[in-house]
Amino acid sequence: MTRTILVTGGAGFIGSNFVRMLLEDRPGDRVINLDALTYAGNLENLKGIESNPNYTFVHGDITRDEDVARAFEAGGESGVSHVVHFAAESHVDRSIQSGLPFVNSNVIGTQVLLDQARGRSVEGFVHVSTDEVYGSLGKTGFFTEETPLSPNSPYSASKAGSDMLVRAAHHTHGFPATITRCSNNYGPYQFPEKLIPLMIANAREDKALPVYGDGMQIRDWLYVRDHCEAILAVMEKGQPGEVYNIGGHNEYPNIEIVRSILRHLDKPESLIEYVTDRPGHDRRYAIDAKKIDEQLGWTPRYTFEQALPMTIQWYLDNDEWLQSVRSGAYRDYYAAQYGG
Ligand code: NAD
Ligand code: TYD
Repeated sequence: MTRTILVTGGAGFIGSNFVRMLLEDRPGDRVINLDALTYAGNLENLKGIESNPNYTFVHGDITRDEDVARAFEAGGESGVSHVVHFAAESHVDRSIQSGLPFVNSNVIGTQVLLDQARGRSVEGFVHVSTDEVYGSLGKTGFFTEETPLSPNSPYSASKAGSDMLVRAAHHTHGFPATITRCSNNYGPYQFPEKLIPLMIANAREDKALPVYGDGMQIRDWLYVRDHCEAILAVMEKGQPGEVYNIGGHNEYPNIEIVRSILRHLDKPESLIEYVTDRPGHDRRYAIDAKKIDEQLGWTPRYTFEQALPMTIQWYLDNDEWLQSVRSGAYRDYYAAQYGG
């Protein structure tokens, strides 16, 4: 049976990697990509697949009922079988500047999407969330699916709000939703405001590398391809109502990541500049990913030692993409493609 998968936020970092993977690995599936093309949405991330007959792009906002309806209608008579929901405001520093866009897209947008999906009897709905909803850890311990939610930034609070709405849709209406909570991703097509692509881009141009506070905050890093495979496993085998943590078993302090990037690029550590810490900065995230391993058979395929050099090389090989994003020229790509 042909499946039709509505992906929201498919022009962003993880969403575009997921759309590419689906079209390659599941050639029988149809993909509809609903994306508002905010500053983080970039159709250049999807270059080369526009003409794939199994792919449809819908320019629209998940907070607008009529846009979401249009995306579902693009599924035609057989309709949409699955929704994979990535669309969100995703950058913590921006949420500290202004929380409202986060509440709009992440909370309200998720409810609009849930209501539309519920009215159309989809078979599955994967809500892509984050480990940041659990808050911050001390030196030891891991987040499990039972860890109480304790979000600390407007970003993570809005994601926690969306998780609760998804949970309620399942509890109240029996809606077939699953929730994934993943650690920090890295890989191709990540917007260069996030740690790894920002440091690669700045180091290449011999610009300062801004390290917040003492640089000893710890994140667990997962290669984006691994994350996409985990989401596919949840979409295909996950149990409705369940939460699945996704992690990379790759915990490093930020400063080590930055040093490692400098080493790979053969740049001096004198480029490192310690700057004022992020307000409310979470100290450590770490994931216990046993459940998805034991129940769905997913485990990461890439170690950080393998995939960080691959990622650095990707940014070197795709300098045109990076420059287009850094200069803002990528904003014109939509107009050139779609005349809008
Ligand atoms: P991103 O910021 O790169 O992309 C977000 C995409 O969503 C963009 O294409 C943007 O245009 C679109 N979008 C935003 N608001 C929209 C709206 N109102 N309507 C329609 N489209 C909208 O984000 P990402 O890093 O790819 O993250 C994707 C999802 O994964 C998010 O939900 C995020 O919370 C979650 N997540 C990210 C990470 C990470 O390390 N990047 C880790 C765990 C979970
Ligand atoms: P980021 O990529 O923004 O992801 P998140 O805040 O969702 O974990 O940041 C990763 C870590 O790197 C986080 O501890 C903040 C830190 N950081 C810096 O030290 N300097 C920077 O310029 C950025 C963007 C992040």
